[in-house]
Amino acid sequence: MISLGLENVVVAETDLSLVDGLKGHLVYRNHWARDLAINNTFEEVAHLLWYGHLPSEQELADLNAKLVANRELPAHVKAVVDAMPDDMDMMEVLRTGVASLPLAGDTWPPTLDQIIYLTAKLPTIIAHRYARLNNREPVAPRTDLGHTANYLYMLKGEEPLTAHVRAFDAYLILTQEHGLNASTFTARVIASTRSDLVSSITGAIGALKGPLHGGAPSEVTEMIEAIGTKENAEPWIKAKLAAGERLMGFGHRIYRTTDPRAIALSKVASELTAEDKWFDLAVHVEQIALRLLKEHKPNRPLETNVEFYAAAVMRAIGLPDELFTPSFAVSRTVGWSAHVLEAAKGKIIRPQSNYTGTMPE
Ligand code: ACO
Repeated sequence: MISLGLENVVVAETDLSLVDGLKGHLVYRNHWARDLAINNTFEEVAHLLWYGHLPSEQELADLNAKLVANRELPAHVKAVVDAMPDDMDMMEVLRTGVASLPLAGDTWPPTLDQIIYLTAKLPTIIAHRYARLNNREPVAPRTDLGHTANYLYMLKGEEPLTAHVRAFDAYLILTQEHGLNASTFTARVIASTRSDLVSSITGAIGALKGPLHGGAPSEVTEMIEAIGTKENAEPWIKAKLAAGERLMGFGHRIYRTTDPRAIALSKVASELTAEDKWFDLAVHVEQIALRLLKEHKPNRPLETNVEFYAAAVMRAIGLPDELFTPSFAVSRTVGWSAHVLEAAKGKIIRPQSNYTGTMPE
C-alpha cells in the first residue's frame, strides 16, 4: 500500500515532542510548549530539547557563554554571503551560508558543541546579509544580549524594545520543535546516512523554504495586503478558492483543530498591536476564511495554522517579509539538530517506491 506524502506513516520514536492533531496539543519533553513560550527563554527551551531538561542557573550560564562565543562568522562565510547576487532570496543565501560553515574535527557523530556552534551562527548570517542589502555595515554581535535580543539588535542596529524581544522569543520558542514535519524529516534522513550536521541543517533549510511549509508567512502578509479592506475579504477569498488556490496560513497535515501555536501567537500579536488596522483586518480575514474553507471542504477541517499569526507577530515587531522564513529557520535549527542527535543513532532511512514504467524487452 502506498501512503502518498507519508501521511499517517510512523517512522520514528522521539522523546522531543508530541503533536496531537485532534486535541491541539503541543508538548516539548513533558512541558506544554505554550507555557514554555510565556515562562522561558529561547536558550532555556533549546537546553530542554538538546539536553533533556530545563537548565540550572549554571547550565544556562554555560550554554549562553557557548552561544555567545560562537556568534561571529568566519571571514570566508562573510565572503560567500557577500558574493551572492542581491536578487537572491534570503533563504537561498542562508542555505549557502550555512553550507559553507566548517565543522572542526570529526564530523561524525554530531555533537552538542557542533549544534551550539551552528545555532549561534544563523542569526549572524541573516543579519549580515540584511545589512548589506540595506547598504549598511553589518553590526557585530553583542556579547551581553540573549540569542533573540542579539538577533534583533543585529538586524535593526539598535537595542530592541523589551516587549519586542519577549514577543519574538515566544514565536521562536513555539517554532523550535514540531515532530516530523517536512524539514525535520529531511534533517533526519540526511543524518541517518551518517552525513554531517551542516549537511542536515542545509537540507532542512531547503525544505523549510517551500511555501507549503515555512515559506507561508510572507504569503500571509501578501494576502492581507492584496485584500486591503474588510469588504474585499469575502469576494477575494471566494475567487481564490474557486480558482483552486490555497489560502496561506490555513490547513495542516496533523492538526484537525486550530494549531495551538496560532492560538498562543494570536494572543502575543494582539498584545503588541492593539488598535492596529492591519491586525484588525487580519483577524477579520481569518474569520471569513475559516467560514469559506468550511464550505469549500466540508469533510476536511482546515483551521488556522502557526504561519498566520507568525506573520502578524513578525510584522508587529517591524521585521519585513523577507525575514519571516529565515527567522523560522533560526528557531527550528534547535529542533532539527535535536532530531539529528536521535536519528544519528538509528537506521538509514530508505523507503521504497513502486515502479510504474515499462520493462525493457
Ligand atoms: N486552502 C485551501 N484548500 C486547502 C488548504 C488551504 N490552505 N489546505 C488544504 N486544502 C485542500 C487541498 O486543496 C486538498 O483538497 P483536494 O482534496 O480537493 O485536493 C485538501 O484540502 C487536503 O489537502 P492536502 O494537501 O491533502 O493536505 P496536506 O495535509 O497534505 O497539506 C498543508 C497540509 C500543506 C499545510 C496544506 O494545508 C496547505 O497547503 N496549506 C497552505 C500552506 C500553509 O499555510 N503552510 C504552512 C503549514 S504550517 C508549517 O509548515 C509550519
